Amino acid sequence: MSSAVAGSENEAVVWMPDGSPHSPRFSDRYHSRSGGLAQANFVFLAGTGLPTAWRGRDRFSVLETGFGLGLNFLSTWAAWNADPQRCESLRFVSVEAYPVDATDLVRSACNADPEDQSMPSIAARLPVLAEQLAQAWRGLSAGIQHWDFAGGRVQLTLAVGEVRAMLPGLDCQADAVYLDGFSPALNPEMWSAEALHLVAQHCRAGARLATYTVARSVRERLQQLGFRVEKCPGLPPKRDRLQAVFGP
Ligand SMILES: C[S@@+](CC[C@H](N)C(=O)[O-])C[C@H]1O[C@@H](n2cnc3c(N)ncnc32)[C@H](O)[C@@H]1O
Repeated sequence: MSSAVAGSENEAVVWMPDGSPHSPRFSDRYHSRSGGLAQANFVFLAGTGLPTAWRGRDRFSVLETGFGLGLNFLSTWAAWNADPQRCESLRFVSVEAYPVDATDLVRSACNADPEDQSMPSIAARLPVLAEQLAQAWRGLSAGIQHWDFAGGRVQLTLAVGEVRAMLPGLDCQADAVYLDGFSPALNPEMWSAEALHLVAQHCRAGARLATYTVARSVRERLQQLGFRVEKCPGLPPKRDRLQAVFGP
């Protein structure tokens, strides 16, 4: 699949009757049926040891594949905001071939988990942060973009293009990795041996990786690249999720 080109139409998002965002291109949902915020916090933040992992650090870097509606970024930023022991600066680096419209970013943040009251401080912050992201997002073009938020303490680098083309050009040593392509069966490019090899090249020793899929091909590729992989209880209705530590 060729990636969207700058200046062309933004990627179509279909909003389902239950409020969840769906991709017609990939025939898959952007987030778990349990809700985007719950998935961001349970699978990706907790799966990489956050917020504890950034405590006591000057700088902490997250690498993500698949920026999508930016919910993982916004949830990470909101969790950083809410943590009195946060690291001095947070860098979030992500890759996206098919950027959505800024209005979809905001809608997703406002809809994140309307019934989930387990993370009220995070959920309440998302729309405010999404507005800041949406302002930066207007005028998005292909290639690598850098934006500063929170007075420069939160830095977002977004590589707009195909994952295998963009990863080699990124300057990033990740402490945490979120693998968040669509399902491997529907979006194999995001989980290919080549893409995962490029991800591993951006990992510090000890980097922690998280993803919602436990597909055997993904587990085996990560193991071959030097990750110690562990299946953990998933966010219902999913039975499992994956956590891994890079220890080549
Ligand atoms: C499940 S969604 C990501 C959700 C996102 N992390 C969030 O928090 O909203 C997967 C994303 O991967 C992107 N994607 C799919 N194939 C890609 C590719 N080959 N290169 C880069 N991005 C790709 C899709 O456009 C989609 O936005």
